[in-house]
Amino acid sequence: MLSIEWTSQEPATTALQTLVVVLASPDCATVLERLFGAPTAQAAVAGRFTGRLGDQFRFARERDGSLQTVVLLGLGADAPTAGRWRSLAHEALRAAQVGSLQLVLDLRQVTGLTPATPQLGNLLAQGLELATYRYDRYIAEARRKPSTVQRVTVLSEHTAASEGLARGQTIATAVARARDLVNGPANEVTPTYLAEFAAAVVGRLKDCADVVLEVLEREDCEKLGMGCYLGVAQCGPQPLKFIHLRYTPKGEAKGRVCLVGKGVTFDSGGLSLKPSDAMMGMKMDMGGAAAVLCALEGAAQLAVPWEVHAIVAATENMIGGSAYKLGDVLTASNGKTVEIDNTDAEGRLTLADALVYAGKLQPTYTLDFATLTGACIVALGPHIAGVMSRDEELCTQWLSASERAGEDAWRLPLPEALKEQLKSPIADMRNTGERWGGAVTAGLFLSEFTEGQRWVHVDIAGPAMVRKPFGVNDEGGSGYAVATILEFLR
Ligand code: BES
Ligand code: MN
Ligand code: ZN
Repeated sequence: MLSIEWTSQEPATTALQTLVVVLASPDCATVLERLFGAPTAQAAVAGRFTGRLGDQFRFARERDGSLQTVVLLGLGADAPTAGRWRSLAHEALRAAQVGSLQLVLDLRQVTGLTPATPQLGNLLAQGLELATYRYDRYIAEARRKPSTVQRVTVLSEHTAASEGLARGQTIATAVARARDLVNGPANEVTPTYLAEFAAAVVGRLKDCADVVLEVLEREDCEKLGMGCYLGVAQCGPQPLKFIHLRYTPKGEAKGRVCLVGKGVTFDSGGLSLKPSDAMMGMKMDMGGAAAVLCALEGAAQLAVPWEVHAIVAATENMIGGSAYKLGDVLTASNGKTVEIDNTDAEGRLTLADALVYAGKLQPTYTLDFATLTGACIVALGPHIAGVMSRDEELCTQWLSASERAGEDAWRLPLPEALKEQLKSPIADMRNTGERWGGAVTAGLFLSEFTEGQRWVHVDIAGPAMVRKPFGVNDEGGSGYAVATILEFLR
C-alpha cells in the first residue's frame, strides 16, 4: 500500500521525485508562466499542452540539487465526475512510475474542487492505489515491472479531503483482490478455489469483524432442490461449491443486504459449445462472484451498518458425457420448471437457485452481479453495466451510488411483454428468449426467482473484463461493482 499524505505545504525536492501538476484549460499559459517561467510555458504551448482533458507535457528540471521530473496533466474545462477523479489519480501515478519513489500531485491550480470532501480523497486514493496494480504472478520475477512509487503527497489546501484517503485505500484493496480472482486462470480459480478464498476472507477478518462462511456441497444443494444449478454443475469434473458468506455489524443493523454473484469459473458454453474466439476470456465468468466476495470483505473492514450476505453458486459450465442437455427440464428450488434450449445460458440457471436461496433469508434488498449476456455489451458497449429492476427507489439508489463511485451504469427496462419469449410448450419456461433483447429477457428470467424481493440485477458482462486500458483499468479484470457496492452500503 502507498503512503499517502495530504498537505498544503510543498515538500522539498528529493531524488527520484515526480511532480504532477493538474491544470484546467482556461488560462493555462499564464499559470504555466507563473509556475515555471516563460521558456517552459512556451515549450509546453509548442508541445500542444493546453490543459485539455488527456493533455500531457513532461520535462525535467534541477531543483535543490536533484533532478525532478515534472508532468503537466490536463483536466479540461468541465467539472470532473467521480470516475474522472479516479482516472486522473491513476494517470498521475502512472506518469511517475516506473522510476520515481515519490509522487507529488499538485491540485492547487484546480479551482472549485468538487467534491472537496472526504469523497475526493477516497476517489483519488482509489485511483492511485489501482495504478500500482499488476497481475504478474505468472511472469518471471526478472521481467516484472512493479511500481516504484512508495509515497504520494497531494498538494491542496482542501485538507478535509484527506479523511477519505484510508477509505479509498481499503476499497482499492478490495477491488484489487477481485481483479486477481478474475485474472486468475480457470485452472487455478475453480469453484473450490473460490470457496477457499471465502474461507481466507473469514481468516483475515477473524479479529475485527463477525464474518461466517457456509459452503454447501452437492448433496446439500440436492436437499434444497436446486435443480437448475445442479443441472449446470452435473458435468463436473470440478465439484460445485455453493458459497455463503455473512457479515454482521456491531450494534443494530439497518437491514439485510444479499449480494448474489455469478460464479461460473469457466463457461465453455456446454453442449451449446461456444466457438473458440468467444470461449477465450470465459475465465472471467465469475466476475460477479469476485465482486460480491471482495465487496463483503471491504464492507466488514469499513464496518458498514448493514448485515451483508455474499452468495455464489459456483460451478464450471463444461461439456462431457454427463453434461446437461438441450431439451432437459430442470426444476428450480422454488418449484419452477425450465426447459433448456441453450446450455450456454447457464448463468441465469445458477443465479435462479442462488436468488431463491437469498429470498429465504428475507433480505431488505437483493442485488445480483453477473457477466450474464453478450447482448448487454451490444446494447451498452464494453464499459457500462446494464441495471434492471422493478423497484424504482432501489434502482435509483443503485444508479446514484454508481455515479458517486465512478463506475458507469445504465438502466435497461424489464418489459413484461417479452416474457412471451420465455414460454415453453412443456415447462413453466425455457431458459432463453429470441435474439433481440437478450439482456432484458435474461433479466426477465431472473425476475421469476425474485418474487416479493426488492431486487436489482446488474449485468457486468462488459465492464468485468477490460480489453483495452480504460480509466483505472489495464487490460484484464476490473473489479467492477466492488466500489459501487461499498458506496451503496455506506
Ligand atoms: N457468460 C456468457 C455471457 C458473456 C458473453 C459474458 C460475452 C462476457 C462476454 C453467458 O453465459 C452466455 O453465454 N450468454 C449467452 C446467452 C445466450 C445463449 C442466450 C450470450 O450472451 O450469448
Ligand atoms: Mn454461457
Ligand atoms: Zn456464462
